[in-house]
Amino acid sequence: MKWFNDNVNILALIGAAVIIVMTVFVAGKYIRQMKTDKSTGELTGDEWDGIGEYNNPIPVGWGLIFVGTIVWWIWYALAGYPLWSFSQIGQWNEEQQEYNKMFKAKWANADKETLKNMGEGVFINNCAPCHGVLGDGSNGKAQNFRHRFSEAQVLDIIKRGSAALGDTKLGDNKGQLGYPLGEMPPGMASGDSAKAIAKYIANGMKGDAPAEFATCAGCHGQDGTGNGGSAPNLKAYDLTLVEHVLQHGKRGMIGVMPAFNTGRLSDIKKKAVAIYVDSIGR
Ligand code: HEC
Ligand code: HEC
Repeated sequence: MKWFNDNVNILALIGAAVIIVMTVFVAGKYIRQMKTDKSTGELTGDEWDGIGEYNNPIPVGWGLIFVGTIVWWIWYALAGYPLWSFSQIGQWNEEQQEYNKMFKAKWANADKETLKNMGEGVFINNCAPCHGVLGDGSNGKAQNFRHRFSEAQVLDIIKRGSAALGDTKLGDNKGQLGYPLGEMPPGMASGDSAKAIAKYIANGMKGDAPAEFATCAGCHGQDGTGNGGSAPNLKAYDLTLVEHVLQHGKRGMIGVMPAFNTGRLSDIKKKAVAIYVDSIGR
C-alpha cells in the first residue's frame, strides 16, 4: 500500500502542512510587530535591572481557565473519577483473595499423592535454594531430608539443649519451635550414654532402644514420634514439625532457617510441602 492510498496518512500530512504554514505566518507577524511595537499600559513603578513591570489585570481567558481547572479537578476527584473508586493495589488484593479462596476450595480434599506433587513445586521454589533440589542439604549447609538426624546433630542438642541454639523469640521457656513442652534442657545425657542415644536416633531408631533413651522418651515418646505433638518427632518430618519450623524458623547446629510465617505459604501449601519433605527420605 502506497502512502497516498491511506486516508489517515493524507489527513496527517495535510494537518502537518497546515500547522507549519500557520506557525510561519503567526511567528512572522509577531517578529515584525516586535520591531515597531511600543509598550502600553500602567507601570507598577518597580524596576529590576532596568526592566519594569506592568500593572495589567490577568487576561480574562487565563483567569477562566485557571478557575475552571480547579473546578474540574474537584469534579474529577469527587464525581468524575472518585479517588476511592479504583486502586491497582486494591484490585490486586481482591484478585489475590479470590484466587486464594479458589485455591482452597479446589484442593481442600486433595489426596496425599496430589499434595505431594504440589509440595514438590513448593519445595523447588522455596526450600531447594538451601536444602538442595534433591533435599540432601546442599553439602551440609541445611538439613538433609534423606536423613532425619546425624549423630553430631543429636549430640549437639543433648549437650547444649535447645535454648542455647535458639533465641528467645517465643518468650521464656517456650523453646524455639513452640512445642507445648517448651525448651529442651541441656545435659540430658553425657559420655557414652549420649553417644549410644545419638547413634540410635541417627540410625532411624531401628531395633531396641538403648536403656539411656528412657530419659528422652519421657518427652519424645517411647517410639520417638513426639508424644502426640508435645515435643518434636525424632523419627520423621511430620506435619506438626514442619509447621512449627515454618512458623518459627530454626537455629540449629548447621545454621539458621528463616521462618516462613508471612502468609506466603498457605496452610494447604505447608501441608503439601510437609508431605513432600517427609517423603524424601523414604
Ligand atoms: C523435658 C522434655 C524433653 C526431654 C527429657 C528431652 N527432650 Fe529433646 N526436645 C524437647 C523439646 C520440647 C524440643 C523442642 C525444643 C525447641 O523447640 O526449642 C526438643 C528437641 C530435641 C531435638 C531437636 C528436634 C528438632 O527437630 O529440632 C532433638 C534431636 C532432641 N530433642 C533429642 C533429645 C534426646 C536425644 C533426649 C534424651 C537425651 C531428649 N531430647 C530429651 C523436649 C525434651
Ligand atoms: C535460607 C536457607 C533455608 C531455606 C530457604 C529453608 N531452610 Fe529449612 N533449614 C535450613 C537450615 C540451615 C536448617 C538446619 C537448622 C539446624 O541446624 O537444625 C533447616 C532445617 C529444616 C528442617 C528441620 C528442622 C528440624 O528441627 O529438624 C525442616 C523440616 C526444614 N528446614 C524445612 C524447610 C522447608 C519446608 C523449607 C521451604 C518452605 C525450608 N526449610 C527452607 C535452611 C533453610
